[in-house]
Amino acid sequence: MILDWNEYLDTARQAAADGIVLLENKEKTLPFESGLKVAVFGRMQNHYYKSGTGSGGMVNVSKVWGILDGLLETDVVPDSELMECYREFDRTHPYAVGVGFGNEPWSQEEMPIDAGLVEAAAKCNEAALVIIARTAGEEQDSQDTQGAYRLSSTEKEMLSLVCRHFKRTALVLNTSGIMDMKEILEIGPSAIAYVWQGGMQGGLGAADVLTGKVCPSGRLTDTIAEHIEDYPAYGHFGDPVANAYVEDIYVGYRYFETFARDRVIYPFGYGLSYTSFQMEAEQVMADADAIRAGKEIYVSVKVTNCGTCSGRQVVQIYVKQPGGLLGKPACVLAGYGKTKLLAPKETGRVEIAINPYYLASYDDSELTDVPYAYQLERGRYGICLAENAASMEEIGSLTLNEDVVLCRLTQALAPRKPFDKMVNRDGKIAYQPVLLQKISEQEHRLAALPVEYPYTGNRGIRLVDVRDGRAKMEDFVAQIGDEDLAAIIRGEGMGSPKVTPGTAAAFGGVTKNLRDMGVPCGCCSDGPSGMRLDCGTKAFSLPNGTLLASTFDDALNEHLYSLLGMEMTKNKVDCLLGPGMNLHRHPLNGRNFEYFSEDPLLTGKIAAAQIRGLQSAGVTGTLKHFCGNNQEKNRHSVDSVISERALRELYLKGFEIAVREGHANCVMTTYGAVNGIWTDSRYDLCTQILRTEWGFQGLVMTDWWASIGDLETANNASGFFTSKSDYASLVRAQNDFYAVCPDASINSTGDNTLEELAKGGITRGELERAASNILSVLLHSHALERLEGEKVDLTVLNYKEEEESINMDEVVYYPVARDTTISLESVNTEQGRDYVFGVDVEERGVYRFILTGASDLSALAQMPVSVYFQSIMGATLTWNGTGGQWLSMERKMLLSAKYGVVRLHFGGSGLKLKDLRLVYEGPLSSVTSLDGYIYG
Ligand code: BGC
Repeated sequence: MILDWNEYLDTARQAAADGIVLLENKEKTLPFESGLKVAVFGRMQNHYYKSGTGSGGMVNVSKVWGILDGLLETDVVPDSELMECYREFDRTHPYAVGVGFGNEPWSQEEMPIDAGLVEAAAKCNEAALVIIARTAGEEQDSQDTQGAYRLSSTEKEMLSLVCRHFKRTALVLNTSGIMDMKEILEIGPSAIAYVWQGGMQGGLGAADVLTGKVCPSGRLTDTIAEHIEDYPAYGHFGDPVANAYVEDIYVGYRYFETFARDRVIYPFGYGLSYTSFQMEAEQVMADADAIRAGKEIYVSVKVTNCGTCSGRQVVQIYVKQPGGLLGKPACVLAGYGKTKLLAPKETGRVEIAINPYYLASYDDSELTDVPYAYQLERGRYGICLAENAASMEEIGSLTLNEDVVLCRLTQALAPRKPFDKMVNRDGKIAYQPVLLQKISEQEHRLAALPVEYPYTGNRGIRLVDVRDGRAKMEDFVAQIGDEDLAAIIRGEGMGSPKVTPGTAAAFGGVTKNLRDMGVPCGCCSDGPSGMRLDCGTKAFSLPNGTLLASTFDDALNEHLYSLLGMEMTKNKVDCLLGPGMNLHRHPLNGRNFEYFSEDPLLTGKIAAAQIRGLQSAGVTGTLKHFCGNNQEKNRHSVDSVISERALRELYLKGFEIAVREGHANCVMTTYGAVNGIWTDSRYDLCTQILRTEWGFQGLVMTDWWASIGDLETANNASGFFTSKSDYASLVRAQNDFYAVCPDASINSTGDNTLEELAKGGITRGELERAASNILSVLLHSHALERLEGEKVDLTVLNYKEEEESINMDEVVYYPVARDTTISLESVNTEQGRDYVFGVDVEERGVYRFILTGASDLSALAQMPVSVYFQSIMGATLTWNGTGGQWLSMERKMLLSAKYGVVRLHFGGSGLKLKDLRLVYEGPLSSVTSLDGYIYG
């Protein structure tokens, strides 16, 4: 396969442009014509949020294109005096990175401007561009406050002044998600566009749209309502202990179009273009018999570009269903497609296949004759061609004379605590109690215990023999002893030396015995918007999830992720920790930027496309976080209390589509609980629904250092941290590996696997099953090819290796004796910084490298320190919050020459370093393999 870096850059730039959503464009404010003099306002002109914060944003990039950078590459003429003014402000008010993981401010201090400055700029410029930016991310939700969901007072003042003095003002929002639009509309810029966070090519994509090189074609993946209080989850979001999802299936447009159309400012699916299109249904094939036979509904739409510039149109098909006994939203998105680039007057065709199963309702309340089944209730189904969720025209219909049951299931994952959920009574909101869980998960588990293959010892079967059809997986697994089965369910990390340095986890061949049997170590790396390589290695940063979904373009997503897949191959990364696919249940969820939409169909289709792209390059991705991970506050223990119907029709549906259509083979469960039990320990979720119902084949992993078991028992007994060693609960549920522990070859976290095996709490068969699931992913991986010495087929074109920039003149050399402590107290450990020093070694040999640090941040904060020796990445040591206590991390180091240069790269702020201690252990001759050593 060929990774052409130029193609990668171009594809990401196209995505960054095609995901931009133009909301307003009065009097053709945009596009800016060539030679236009533009005054650019907003301090973020000198920066750019390429993504949100936390694990989904920590991609080290060589260059990020901001919006002004992009504009400067075009024929538009930005006002240079004003630019200088902002540069000066930036010098005196440096960009604030915040301290630590998840603690970055959601916006940057804006430069106050006075009327005089704006008036002067209005005299010598023909248009204004205002850039306002927001970030958000892991560990912390956004807030309905100024400078976060709302404008800060300085921003408000700036926008008002600019709009007062410029008739032609375009506002661009470089944000992780939606903002309060009401106050912005009251000020009234003549054009508004969400450019989201477009990754390293984002500013170029934005400039393409601002100047008309690309005609905007993105559509909103969320409804924008007037007030935050209008969202149905309002009041049931942000509780640190538990949130009941009372709005049930009425999330996003499903709620607004059914009950509150008057609260909507911009509907789901909305977006303007520089041209106009005419859409005409050519064919609608929807027939009751076909539906009963499980066939798809087929729609073909002719699209003509009636305007004056080339552009692309998104075709959206919604279905209006009969209310029936279960009650339905006014409409649901049933399918979508996008035209190719159509020249003026050109006509194209979009064909959409609609799977009726995705429209079916699930009776979790025993209201129909077939409870716990997906069904299409009798009545009339209107098939509508739409501009967006609020503007549609019926193009066909079908009538079912009787209910059609598509799939009978059993109750799973239902609530254990009573609450009332929203229902639709003739277009009015009513509430009805949820039905509680009747059958215990343990009953489900015991009814389906796996076959056990007695231990045979190593018979010489290697994993590659299974891949090549010379042996069966069960015979391979039977060779693994209990100790190694207990080890294989331990993910190792972060920064395991067994895989690419600075990545999230190694899984699979974590012990010597396993490697001797030919089990490679697979390498997992965050995800989702590019590879997170904490060692400081540069990687490609992609647009955020919301932007990529706003393209409504499956093919583009697939292509982009195939390029990412090749880049992963180049870096020996086998499994991306993404896509992130929780729903945008509430606009303030911190990680919405990683996720796609309020709609499950769009979420599932985009995720499926990304997974197909990754897998086409021989790597894979991880659907996360499975499921109900819709808030960051207290994310490690918050309980999401959700009806079974809402789970199945919304919160699980995207995952289901990605499994069925994308053949996803890795899934990550959440930190939080669903209906009282941590998701990683839910048999109903990880086995019953995922595998038995959907046919998933692959592995499930926990989120990093997640808690395990029953939330209530754990809380009542000894607190949630103690539950981190209950691996047996994971095994029972079929959550295959725990992420992560520092050394998987020993029981470094005191897990209970072998103890429970001895007591009969789990079976060897269950452990073998976990091993087979893990191995099934490694079977077709490049990791196996690497281990077996096979050539991984990859050619990289047009890639320039980054130069490491160490100023050798500033490097201090410390003399190193047999036991030396180097104080690091004054080292600046801010994210992105490097500290470089030299060692002058008295006695060459093997040393213990002991780095001591502390942090006051939360227990889940991640502060990776990557250690390079002579420019070779040797280890990444990741601290979590330590409650301020010093904590030492240790590796072995080979000091084989008198002089050497060490570089510490800080991947996240918030860590205080105390010192580095180097202790002599023995002569170099004692080393037989370089595995796990820091060496130069
Ligand atoms: C996040 C995951 C991420 C993992 C590894 C966790 O904090 O929730 O999404 O993949 O860290 O970085």
